[in-house]
Amino acid sequence: MGVLDFLKKEKNGEKKNSHYLSGKEVKAIAKANAAEMRRLEKAKARKVPESEYLTEMKEENNILEIENLHSYFFTDQGVVKAVNGVTFNIPLNSTVGVVGESGCGKSVTSMSVMRLLQGPSGQIVEGSIRFKAYDFKRDEQGNCIPVYEKDENGEIVQEPVLDKKGEQVRDKEGNPVFQPKQKRDSHGLGIFEKEEKVFDVAKMPIREMYRLRGRQMSMVFQEPMTSLNPVFTIGDQLDEVTLLHVPGATKELAKKRSIEMLNMVGIAMPERVYASYPHELSGGMRQRVMIAMALAGEPRLIIADEPTTALDVTIQAQILDLFNDLKNRINGSILLITHDLGVIAEMADYVVVMYAGRIIEQGTASEIFHNPLHPYTQGLQKSKPTMNSSSDQLFNIPGNVPNPINMPNHCYFKERCSKCKEKCSGEYPCMVQVSPTHYVACHLYGEKEE
Ligand SMILES: Nc1ncnc2c1ncn2[C@@H]1O[C@H](COP(=O)(O)OP(=O)(O)OP(=O)(O)O)[C@@H](O)[C@H]1O
Ligand code: SF4
Ligand SMILES: [Mg+2]
Repeated sequence: MGVLDFLKKEKNGEKKNSHYLSGKEVKAIAKANAAEMRRLEKAKARKVPESEYLTEMKEENNILEIENLHSYFFTDQGVVKAVNGVTFNIPLNSTVGVVGESGCGKSVTSMSVMRLLQGPSGQIVEGSIRFKAYDFKRDEQGNCIPVYEKDENGEIVQEPVLDKKGEQVRDKEGNPVFQPKQKRDSHGLGIFEKEEKVFDVAKMPIREMYRLRGRQMSMVFQEPMTSLNPVFTIGDQLDEVTLLHVPGATKELAKKRSIEMLNMVGIAMPERVYASYPHELSGGMRQRVMIAMALAGEPRLIIADEPTTALDVTIQAQILDLFNDLKNRINGSILLITHDLGVIAEMADYVVVMYAGRIIEQGTASEIFHNPLHPYTQGLQKSKPTMNSSSDQLFNIPGNVPNPINMPNHCYFKERCSKCKEKCSGEYPCMVQVSPTHYVACHLYGEKEE
């Protein structure tokens, strides 16, 4: 059948293709989208007092709490509900793994936490992202407050003020000038007061996010080549992290720290790599540079989106060790996104399983690996290749993830599920708690048998 015959049939109403949109429909969608995107972009740019996005954690032990997050893309084909009501927590000093097949919304969830969704089409539409930041305390003018040295009587120690040549500064009467002596760290940099504050990242104006990105939370992106700037050397890009986030940092200190970081992520000849451009490095080296960059600010939350996919197995193990080491050293946490169930099993304390923009199961790593409840999680486990499997064919979950535009109101996994029952054609299943830490959204659980 030719295209013209097909269109003729469409016109006569003989065949309805659900993916086909007329020009009129596309125009109407674009118009509705434009109004919504304008409203959301305006909200992102407006100046608001800090009190509007300061909040409290629901549980003291968490560093991140995502609640009912909805992140959408407004396209001319319709609204893609990439993240559609996601709720999970990341406790302090722990690793939360997010798994799910391609396109289920893992990257969009992490980009939402960093507020890096590409506007105007990508927007957080609803929900909260509460993040516990440990930031510099500021005075009314917005300046950092120094921590001063005190003597045994509790009095602030005074030190002589020196000029650029290192000579004593004197006042008009010729008396030496003194100033309070600031405490210094091992690099000789002044120490400033810090305080813990909880921000609702989803409500923060975009310009305020610069306070958090890099120093408080940082991200290792899925594609290193698109995340490194091709016209700057690796050194320039790494130094920038220290220069931006460490008050009083000099170029020399930044270079020293950058080379230390390159060493730490297992790069041989770090001085040479420091002076190279991204295109001069292999894919694995670029990935390690990205990791060095994310670690340079010593953030409390590291979001790693497929951090080891481009690396060979030996380097993969080293990098995973490095993440663990850093997490323990600074009492930080990791949000680890990966397809690799082996990596999750080794690294994660808690696991979140996503499907088509929603969480379908979550629990401790042991619960998800030893007692997977959702048919999709069970399928994921079975499709993992093992050395001692008796079958010579790998299990695969039949079918595909449904079209993300106009999702049905019933369980999204229904068309692919072998355990489907009558109730599954009804409303989308609620999240059911099966243990203090294990939750599943499936009609097979939490209800009396009919
Ligand atoms: N810029 C965009 N415009 C429109 N839709 C998008 C855009 N970016 C992502 N999406 C859609 O959002 C959904 C979730 O994408 P996401 O990148 O989060 O998937 P993922 O789980 O990270 O997949 P992968 O494992 O392949 O990285 C997909 O349906 C994708 O098509
Ligand atoms: S709700 Fe029904 S269709 Fe969905 S996963 Fe559970 S059993 Fe399968
Ligand atoms: Mg992704």
